[in-house]
Amino acid sequence: MAPSTSLDLFDDAHLRDPYPAYAALREMGPAVRLIKQDVWAIPRYAHVHAVLHDSKHFVSENGVALTDLANREILAGTVLASDGDQHVRLRRVLSKQLSLRSIKHLEQQTRARADQLVDEHTRTGTPDAAALARHMVSDTVMGLMGLPEEVRPRLIGSAAATFDVFGPEGHRYQQALPAASAMVAFLHENVTRDTVAEDSWMGAVFRAVDAGDIQESDAIPLASAYTAAAIDTTILGLTETIRQLAQHPKQWAMLRQDPTLALAENAFHEALRREAPIQGFGRLTAERIQLGGTWIEAGEQVWLLYGSTGRDTDKWGVAADTFNIRRPNASQHLAFGSGRHLCAGIPLALMQARALLGALASRCTHLGPAGEPNRVLNNLLRGWWRVPITAQVTEPSPRSGQAHPAAATSRPEQPS
Ligand code: HEM
Repeated sequence: MAPSTSLDLFDDAHLRDPYPAYAALREMGPAVRLIKQDVWAIPRYAHVHAVLHDSKHFVSENGVALTDLANREILAGTVLASDGDQHVRLRRVLSKQLSLRSIKHLEQQTRARADQLVDEHTRTGTPDAAALARHMVSDTVMGLMGLPEEVRPRLIGSAAATFDVFGPEGHRYQQALPAASAMVAFLHENVTRDTVAEDSWMGAVFRAVDAGDIQESDAIPLASAYTAAAIDTTILGLTETIRQLAQHPKQWAMLRQDPTLALAENAFHEALRREAPIQGFGRLTAERIQLGGTWIEAGEQVWLLYGSTGRDTDKWGVAADTFNIRRPNASQHLAFGSGRHLCAGIPLALMQARALLGALASRCTHLGPAGEPNRVLNNLLRGWWRVPITAQVTEPSPRSGQAHPAAATSRPEQPS
């Protein structure tokens, strides 16, 4: 008999603290039936990794979100929810924009922007880490997408509704549905050949349409891949990294002593490992398949618990819950996914992390917590809307202009 449970991972109590439930699920088995959602939860690192690398048996089309409506109306046609040749075609367009080689030239300007924002936000001595991260990431991504100034405010923060709609039907889903659907319509109306900058991500998407590499109907789903995937995830990851560093003064001191920024990058990975910004995504089984001894029938849905994999003691040892910026294998976390759908934006996320953490490290002798943070309660996203901290600022120390070689290469890039 395969294990099953009536635990509801999407109720408020579990969204606030899912880790006891994740530990219980890992204990129960490699695949555990969630009775309420009628899906298989996959809680252990090894099996989530195995599913992500088996795209023959586990497919994304109609399987990423928990409801048919989200799969059909929000995700259909996106790179995230496509398989096979269609996925390769769409992914190739993104990879051209997002590969390490394509974004390398942005490193200096990203650092300069981070320096400026850290100066601005730490002026009072009590910045909000989430506001700082939001400012940094929205500026970077909106600029790169090439969207007109007037549409940007509408898109920032819009991903939260989309991620709520990927979850099960319930009050959070119902509340978010109108905003998520309106966002798709808004992109169709406002992101056109005439409105986007030519030398930008969206400019390149429309050029790929004109060259016949992809269809006209692929353009807006690609825009939504950028807006939904790139912004809130990075904001939540950066905010959590700063929050952890503010709680661990010795690790902050260590990080300040490393001008190569390799440690800053590892700190970001470590924060993503402990608190995956996207806690889970789904897949559908294309054929009957055995997973760790449990048979799963064709056409069933598995729910990959990225958030649980980061605390799996079989992978991370007994100190899995501890934040340790020197953890040697931190970058092996699954918070970016793995396999064919491995996050396409890793180089950009890491570049922003190096820039922002480096700017803070060169300026702030001390970080500390300052009051209660506000938690994001979302079906899929995990993190904080607001994280007040104290920051003791000094004159910036000179920073190395060179990223550590490991910094840029510590995650494999997917072949396009
Ligand atoms: C800390 C920041 C980020 C996190 C935690 C994150 C997380 C993820 C995860 C878990 C997936 C895999 C989904 C799956 O397995 O089905 C993914 C895919 C993706 N991410 Fe990210 N992401 C981040 C930043 C970014 C950025 C900056 C971009 C830039 C545009 C981006 C673009 C994408 C795209 C396009 C995909 C779909 C790839 C595919 O399906 O082939 N992400 N991301």
